[in-house]
Amino acid sequence: MSDPAIDRYAVFGNPIAHSQSPQIHTLFAEQTAQTLQYTAELAEIGDFDHAVWQFFKNNGKGLNITVPFKEDAWALADRHSQRALRAGAVNTLSLQPNGSIYGDTTDGVGLATDLVQNHQIKLKDKNILVIGAGGAVRGVLEALLNHTPASLIVANRTKEKAQQLATDFSDLGNITGCGLNELKAQKFDVVINGTSASLQGDLPPIPDTVFNADACSYDMMYSADPTPFMTWSLQHGATQTFDGLGMLVEQAAESFYIWRGKRPDTQAVIQSIRTTLNA
Ligand code: ATR
Repeated sequence: MSDPAIDRYAVFGNPIAHSQSPQIHTLFAEQTAQTLQYTAELAEIGDFDHAVWQFFKNNGKGLNITVPFKEDAWALADRHSQRALRAGAVNTLSLQPNGSIYGDTTDGVGLATDLVQNHQIKLKDKNILVIGAGGAVRGVLEALLNHTPASLIVANRTKEKAQQLATDFSDLGNITGCGLNELKAQKFDVVINGTSASLQGDLPPIPDTVFNADACSYDMMYSADPTPFMTWSLQHGATQTFDGLGMLVEQAAESFYIWRGKRPDTQAVIQSIRTTLNA
């Protein structure tokens, strides 16, 4: 049995072995003097709901949810934040005092905070290109549009998925969807790779003319070495490029805030996780 005096948190995913979340949340807890335990848990496919209820029965207070369970978490939650309703996915579950489960998504805030606050990238009135139209991209569009860019184009290998996303978010700003092969002469200030291509060491086929002068690029993936997209960006006109480690830490910080009402110092934690990654 777990110690009932200690609030338990965890990340559920499959696979989960390489998750940085336990280290991140343990550092947050130390910084903010919170007594809690945070672990990484492998949930079996098909057993997600049962595993969540078991966790909450054993002094679990909150969960982060990662691949492939974010839609399952959405379905399991009794109530949702507006942003989770829109995203159709949940990465943060919280057990409420009445025993119900609240679902939220913090990925979008994580990306926007990393870009705007950590990297000082202005999104307002800028032209943004987002590559990909899967769950990861759906989860960040609202937060990007909240910064009122001049335009946001979602371009995807499968055009129809990009067009569907643009339709779903069209009330929030100037957003359009197209196929990757339809990007021709347009130029952008911020180019975000939201595909899973970097996971396979691949580069999505993007025209090498997409960068405006002084443009930056951002890969929502992260690794010790620059991803193929980051290297390609610098070779084709981006003046700065960033990986998704800051997004990871910022989404974690937003989850931590939802659970504990405290905002950790993310800079110190980003540096610490970067050092671990490079070791
Ligand atoms: P996630 O949850 O990470 O978003 P997903 O929903 O499976 O995963 O979406 C993966 C995204 O990466 C999709 O936009 C996919 O393009 P398709 O919709 O055409 O499949 C994109 N993707 C994956 N590998 C890619 C590659 N090598 N080149 C271009 N796009 C790729």
